[in-house]
Amino acid sequence: MDERIITNHPLEEDQFEASIRPDSIDEYIGQKEVKENLEIFIKAAKMRGETLDHVLLYGPPGLGKTTLAYIIANEMGVNIKTASGPSIEKSGDLAAVLSSLEPGDVLFIDEIHRMPRYIEEILYPAMEDFTLDIIVGSDSSTRNIRIDLPPFTLVGATTRAGDLTGPLRDRFGIVSKLQFYTIEELTQIVKRTARVLGCEIDEEAALELASRSRGTPRIANRLLKRVRDFALVLGNGTIDLDITKHALDKLKVDRLGLDDTDYHLLKSIIEKFNGGPVGIEAIASSIGEEQTTIEDVYEPYLLQIGFLKRTTRGRVVTEKAYEHLGIKRQGSLF
Ligand SMILES: Nc1ncnc2c1ncn2[C@@H]1O[C@H](COP(=O)(O)OP(=O)(O)OP(=O)(O)O)[C@@H](O)[C@H]1O
Ligand SMILES: [Mg+2]
Repeated sequence: MDERIITNHPLEEDQFEASIRPDSIDEYIGQKEVKENLEIFIKAAKMRGETLDHVLLYGPPGLGKTTLAYIIANEMGVNIKTASGPSIEKSGDLAAVLSSLEPGDVLFIDEIHRMPRYIEEILYPAMEDFTLDIIVGSDSSTRNIRIDLPPFTLVGATTRAGDLTGPLRDRFGIVSKLQFYTIEELTQIVKRTARVLGCEIDEEAALELASRSRGTPRIANRLLKRVRDFALVLGNGTIDLDITKHALDKLKVDRLGLDDTDYHLLKSIIEKFNGGPVGIEAIASSIGEEQTTIEDVYEPYLLQIGFLKRTTRGRVVTEKAYEHLGIKRQGSLF
């Protein structure tokens, strides 16, 4: 089991996450542009009495893609059926899901980039014409049959839009990229979650938590949950700044939200590769992490705060990161 707070595996805490998920678009904090556009498209679809166009949501883990998929269904007043790319192994799996849809339903496919290509092809006519082409019969007597599907909205989520094939990507009418949240937005999220959990938190404690959450609501919520434990055991239950700092230090989450793995990663590039440029494969093997974990979970935030740079020759650690780590750059004048 993974005890890390910064992970790309939401499974462990699914229950917790579901319980604190905002369920209307008004409660969904931040992502202003994405929200404003979606609100218009949802309103327009409802005014026309049509289903919403297919929506692709992409961005790093924990930024609210699944949450938004549920909100879309709620706002449209329809049911949501869910599936995930890797769990659809046979074309029959997808056919079964598609033929179970009711008119207007949202079909949410998480990790849609991990769907096998031959299964993806079944989606094309389903998305375009709401039809399902299947082959029935055995080797000697196979025939194609075409089944009409009710109109539905496919909401796809992915952390890697680049891994999606062109034909699939082109079939989404609405493509929205989720961004890292600002500290103000995360502060609001922390306060909202505290309210839902029924615990008290000071303004400055909420701000501290937010600043250490790497722009990510999932991390903010997880940290809040842990800090709440510290407050209960070591204090009177109220989360104040002292408790928050103490707890986050114990959890080894630094002032910018970096954890041991971030440090390990940056230090490896500095110590073993002289600060880069170095390829992602070499970094992965030197710190013993999966390449995709680095690319999906660690790197986006390090790039966002300007600690890493991507160049054609590989990743480079920036001056800013050296300063934060308190390491002098080799050959530097200072
Ligand atoms: N805009 C938001 N406002 C309030 N809470 C949010 C917001 N976005 C996400 N959250 C909270 O963060 C948690 C993680 O969000 P969610 O599961 O939707 O992320 P995700 O993008 O689907 O992640 P993954 O890529 O790992 O599937 C949820 O518990 C949700 O309540
Ligand atoms: Mg998700």
